[in-house]
Amino acid sequence: MQPTILVTGANGQLGSVLIPALRGRYGSERVIASDIRSVPNYRGRFELIDATDADRLTQVVREQNVTQIYHLAAILSASGEQQPIRTWNINMSAFLNVLEVSRQEGIDKVFYPSSIAVFGEGAELDHTPNDSVLDPLTSYGISKAAGENWAQYYFAKYGLDVRSIRYPGVIGHQSDPGGGTTDYAVEIFHAAVQGKPFSCFLQADERLPMIFMDDAIRATLELMEAPKENIRIRTSYNLAGASFSPEEVTAAIRQYYPDFDVSYVPDYRQEIAAKWPNSIDDSAARGDWGWQPEYDLKKMAKTMIEALQKRYNRETPLLGNNQFAA
Ligand code: SER
Repeated sequence: MQPTILVTGANGQLGSVLIPALRGRYGSERVIASDIRSVPNYRGRFELIDATDADRLTQVVREQNVTQIYHLAAILSASGEQQPIRTWNINMSAFLNVLEVSRQEGIDKVFYPSSIAVFGEGAELDHTPNDSVLDPLTSYGISKAAGENWAQYYFAKYGLDVRSIRYPGVIGHQSDPGGGTTDYAVEIFHAAVQGKPFSCFLQADERLPMIFMDDAIRATLELMEAPKENIRIRTSYNLAGASFSPEEVTAAIRQYYPDFDVSYVPDYRQEIAAKWPNSIDDSAARGDWGWQPEYDLKKMAKTMIEALQKRYNRETPLLGNNQFAA
């Protein structure tokens, strides 16, 4: 039987692209987008949901006969540091609501996005293993690490089929990121294609794990469709795409725009990034459910630049509105 899927945070960077992918796969009528903000003239099923409101979540799940939830709504790392306690409260209460409503209403599967932000000083910086010590140093990272443990708890205690990926920074042209430490790596492409200089808030050599949007979406669908017995990690899976630093992505962009002007003015986000991995060991995802990324930096740069050139020529619209989602 086809699932009926509810996506929270559907207007965010990832949700805006995941929704069309899910609709393509399962049928438009089977996928309900939800967000704390509505979008004027939204095409398709949409419900206004603040995921911190458990009653509203329950109401939609019941009324729409939801069988799967993809819970993307969260405040990200950089914006989270402006209001750490509020970030913890919102991120945790929203996810605990999703878990509890899922248990009570007999939801079949839950997707929970975790992040490279769960890692801190205790983890190796290079090829960070899946089972590293998690000692995150942002409110967002603390909430994601705690959420991973709650995911495992609901699986172990109630058999709730919660599946999770630790996303690297997601690089896409279809939607804009908001409030993340890895956002520079999207913004830099926009500047280059518009012929503007770029001021980078990270150091030139601050290498971080990144992934191209198409790979991130495909990983999500592959994880959620994998046989249940293959999902041996019930906290969250490390996922690798391509790791690079600002100077490396700049070099890739200069293959197309040789005069692209980049300066470096590191701010508080540099301190966040410095504690995150340089690269990720995703052998568990590869072994358990066959993960294989398709985009390296070169392919990512080519695809981003070609797509953004079309966007700025007004051939393609921007998806979503962002601010409040993973
Ligand atoms: N891209 C996210 C951030 O920078 C990491 O999960 O906050």
